[in-house]
Amino acid sequence: MTGGDEVGRYLRERWRALGEAGALFTRPWEGLDEEAARARVDPHGRLGDLAGRRVLCLAGGGGQQSAAFARLGARVTVVDLDGGQLARDRDAQAVVQADMRDLSTLAGSAFDVVYQPYSINFVPDLRAVVGSVDDVLAPAGVYVVWLANPFARGVGTRDWIGQGYLLRHPYLEGAPYEGRDEEWVAPDLSGVPPPREYTHTLGGVVAALAEVGLHLFALDEHTGPADAAPGTWAHLKSVLPPWFTLWARRPGAAPA
Ligand SMILES: C[S@@+](CC[C@H](N)C(=O)[O-])C[C@H]1O[C@@H](n2cnc3c(N)ncnc32)[C@H](O)[C@@H]1O
Repeated sequence: MTGGDEVGRYLRERWRALGEAGALFTRPWEGLDEEAARARVDPHGRLGDLAGRRVLCLAGGGGQQSAAFARLGARVTVVDLDGGQLARDRDAQAVVQADMRDLSTLAGSAFDVVYQPYSINFVPDLRAVVGSVDDVLAPAGVYVVWLANPFARGVGTRDWIGQGYLLRHPYLEGAPYEGRDEEWVAPDLSGVPPPREYTHTLGGVVAALAEVGLHLFALDEHTGPADAAPGTWAHLKSVLPPWFTLWARRPGAAPA
């Protein structure tokens, strides 16, 4: 069963521990007005009017994106592996405890938007995730997926070596790497297993999308200010944006 393997066991343990540590990812977004909600999940207004639209927050528990989409009037479903995270999605219409690699419990669904916050690098098999998304995406649906910048995976502020950041993980689709959580993740990470993630190359991701007929139409890079102090998170972002957000849709689907 997907999620019952070693990858799934490790992820359940890590996310249980992150919940206990009160990690940033487990703190719901409170009191969003419409403008703030839009800025969080759709800052360029690519999704258009979301009132009544069916949105799936994939591996998106914790009460953040679900709160934003609900504030924008969407009908929100959340899938997450961790029950503690799902308990925080108080504004969602439905929550489903499942692994992102197997969305068979949602068979027959047709979501207008599948929004996947940073999580796809937690699993080695990209195609399992993208294939599952394909199964539940409406004919004119949009898939929004965050991923680690393929060229900066596993690089953190502790990798500052005086003149730059050390890159050391092989650039191979599906290759595992271990990192260290940044200090902003939680005040005390002593009981939390360190991040164990998998490389997804730019070519690998584009190919996985293309194989299910999804067309990339935008790519956002999470950059930082040019004047930050070396070795800080803001500086790392300015040199090596840690995340990309890819926007893909079915061919023929009209832009919002
Ligand atoms: C970095 S958080 C992103 C979502 C969160 N709403 C946020 O804004 O920080 C990643 C989420 O993915 C979930 N997750 C980890 N592995 C998963 C898997 N294999 N399938 C589904 N969800 C998974 C975690 O429980 C966590 O809630």
